[in-house]
Amino acid sequence: MPSTFTSLDPAAVRAQFPTLSDDFAFLENAGGSQVPEVVVEAIRGYLLDCCVQIGASYPHSVKATQTVAEAHRFVETFMNAGEAGKAVLGPSTTQLLMMLAHAYGEILVPGDEVVIAESNHESNAGPWERLRRFGVVPVIWPVDRESQSLRPETLIPLLNERTKLVCFPHVSNLLGEVIDVAEVTRAAHAVGAKVVVDGVAYAPHAPIDVQAWEVDWYVYSTYKVFGPHMAALYGTHDAFEGLTGPNHFFIDRDNVPLKWEPGSLAHESCAGIAALGRYFEFLSGGHSGRRGVVEAFEAMERLERPVHRRLVEYLRTKPVRLVGPGHADEGTIGTVSFVHERIPSPEIVAHTDRRGIGIRHGHMYAYRLCEALGIDPATGVVRVSLVHYNTLEEIDRLIEALEDLL
Ligand SMILES: Cc1ncc(COP(=O)(O)O)c(C=O)c1O
Repeated sequence: MPSTFTSLDPAAVRAQFPTLSDDFAFLENAGGSQVPEVVVEAIRGYLLDCCVQIGASYPHSVKATQTVAEAHRFVETFMNAGEAGKAVLGPSTTQLLMMLAHAYGEILVPGDEVVIAESNHESNAGPWERLRRFGVVPVIWPVDRESQSLRPETLIPLLNERTKLVCFPHVSNLLGEVIDVAEVTRAAHAVGAKVVVDGVAYAPHAPIDVQAWEVDWYVYSTYKVFGPHMAALYGTHDAFEGLTGPNHFFIDRDNVPLKWEPGSLAHESCAGIAALGRYFEFLSGGHSGRRGVVEAFEAMERLERPVHRRLVEYLRTKPVRLVGPGHADEGTIGTVSFVHERIPSPEIVAHTDRRGIGIRHGHMYAYRLCEALGIDPATGVVRVSLVHYNTLEEIDRLIEALEDLL
């Protein structure tokens, strides 16, 4: 990886990603991002050099153990866990949240309430709703129908001394609007509740800071942030302490993360996650650790924002309903959903498929949100989702394709 690169030229950024070298315009990053070569090589290297079980004393196993530990260190730095808490790795956000809900099922009592935001991806809704079987009461935090926005002020009347958890997305995977996590967390803490924040749609766009926001639980999927298919769940020491993780009986409950990582992790993917720090170093002009993460995101924002603006400005001239804030200013990320007045979403996507442009339609597992906003989940929205490596040229190609149809 070149280290002399100082200003972020989109072509140099794209050159880090082997899969971005053809002329397919990949604009479906909210489904999962591409990975830089440094991550691909780390996974390959792991499989060739130390594909053994961790925890033994021979050199290959020592190296494997270190790799898995490095992946934990990376995600903790990425979320700014510091001394406040720990991160658990797992196969996906959905599975980590199911595991967390299962653990809460053991301590919540009938009559306890769990607030579930209507804008959640199903992974942060269904597992909590299923706690009904223990007498737990799910309370829906609705999205404002007119502004299509999840408003912190509408949460307040739902909170009371029975509220134990408030489960919401930092950014909805359809709406693209950033929720004020610190404000919601303060409101939840004021009644003694904890927050479970789904950061999956936020994480590829801006730095997570679990300490600044004082969140209890925060989860994101590494495959949406230029890494392999895994996910990371941060919890404060206090949040972990009240619960028992699912791992075997002879593993102490305070042995975090092991108590929360049953079975073997995908060790080769851990190698990929650990290597991601080098990509952030590249983006930040040579900084490592937390500074590298923060400065990398500043650089990514400078690349993503103009591309996002061009797309939204174009769509505002068309007979489409923008699902979400309808602008590309601060407080939004480059995920843009829309529904055309007449043309069904699948038809629009079939048209762009034929032109070598990757976007998508559907409910994207935000099924409840589609229903709440009067959108048929069967056809759903058309979603265009950008990250920093997308270019104005790609948006112009999309606009040209849409122009033929819309
Ligand atoms: C906002 C959001 N939350 C959660 C998930 C689920 O992530 P995973 O596939 O890691 O379970 C997704 C996946 O698309 C998502 O977009």
